[in-house]
Amino acid sequence: MQSLSEYLQAHPDLRFIFTGGKGGVGKTVSAAVLAYQYAQQGKRTLLASLNPVHSLSSLFGQDLTGGSVKPVQGVNNLFAIEVSTEDAVEKYRQNVGQRIREFLKYADIPVDPKAFIDIAMTNPAFEESAMFDKMSDMMLMQSGEYDRIVFDTAAVANAVRLIGLSKIYGLWLGRLIESRKEALSLRVQLSFRKEKVAQEVARDPMMADLMAMNERFIEVKKLLVDPEVTAFFFVTLPLSLPISVVKRFIEMVKGYDIPVGGVIVNEVITPQALQGAADEYLLNKFKEQGAYLRIIDQDLGPLVRAYVPLYPREVVGLESLRQVAEDMFRPVEALAGELLA
Ligand SMILES: Nc1ncnc2c1ncn2[C@@H]1O[C@H](COP(=O)(O)OP(=O)(O)OP(=O)(O)O)[C@@H](O)[C@H]1O
Ligand SMILES: [Mg+2]
Repeated sequence: MQSLSEYLQAHPDLRFIFTGGKGGVGKTVSAAVLAYQYAQQGKRTLLASLNPVHSLSSLFGQDLTGGSVKPVQGVNNLFAIEVSTEDAVEKYRQNVGQRIREFLKYADIPVDPKAFIDIAMTNPAFEESAMFDKMSDMMLMQSGEYDRIVFDTAAVANAVRLIGLSKIYGLWLGRLIESRKEALSLRVQLSFRKEKVAQEVARDPMMADLMAMNERFIEVKKLLVDPEVTAFFFVTLPLSLPISVVKRFIEMVKGYDIPVGGVIVNEVITPQALQGAADEYLLNKFKEQGAYLRIIDQDLGPLVRAYVPLYPREVVGLESLRQVAEDMFRPVEALAGELLA
């Protein structure tokens, strides 16, 4: 079993770290701890929340709202942003609208673009597409500015769609480029003034636009599937539902060749916490958790990087984040033995 710190040491060039899992299992806390740890090591780190509902501000106990990058008070090298879904969607809406207008103009299709734009906007994955676009922006443009970017992604379904979308997006772009190429070469073949048209084709703004989009997409994808650069960490509780979500999620992510960094088991009742406790409820929960910890060990064993104890209070503020960091980066082997005994 490789612990979290061993994994990070073995992957010194990681630049993009993601956390995922079922709702409420501790994705934001885990992302914050990873970012905190990197910042402590002197890495200039950006913690980016891509959730429609943000919780970085309440976690750090400071105002990180507003959709722009802000330094986290009290931690050197740590910056945070709560990406505004509305801003991302609005920017994306304008981009897509612009593309559709251009397309209709260059293809010489004399129709009102508004209907086409409306249809594109009602696409149920539009918001995810917008967030994916924003994420791509950050990965390509801000990676020079930061040594590490830790993304706190939305609940499981959204994050999977975000990834799945990248595949569809790629297919769609490839097809668009192909048909544009076909149309352009036809124009060259049909023209008497071939040279003139060939020059025009080389300058074709739509083709240039598509190619640029495609290059950007290929670049992001290359980063997303590189295990030296990217790692997805999944957070689960020792409970049935979060475990099946993580298993499903891992299969999906692997299907897209995205590297899995490991699994963090959160809110574990430690034997120490039980000591002297006569509380029936806690004892029952402890027994129940035992069965799930064994399932986790059986099915995900080598991927488990950390067991984080259940704290008596929620994780709020730097002091409690420091405590979680300490626990999350403990050697995992000894704890596993103790918990699974
Ligand atoms: N080990 C722990 N012990 C006690 N409380 C915890 C622990 N881990 C997380 N929490 C608390 O559980 C709640 C959920 O944590 P967090 O916000 O990180 O989950 P999430 O997966 O990001 O949720 P969401 O799906 O809503 O984004 C928070 O109030 C947090 O303080
Ligand atoms: Mg969260």
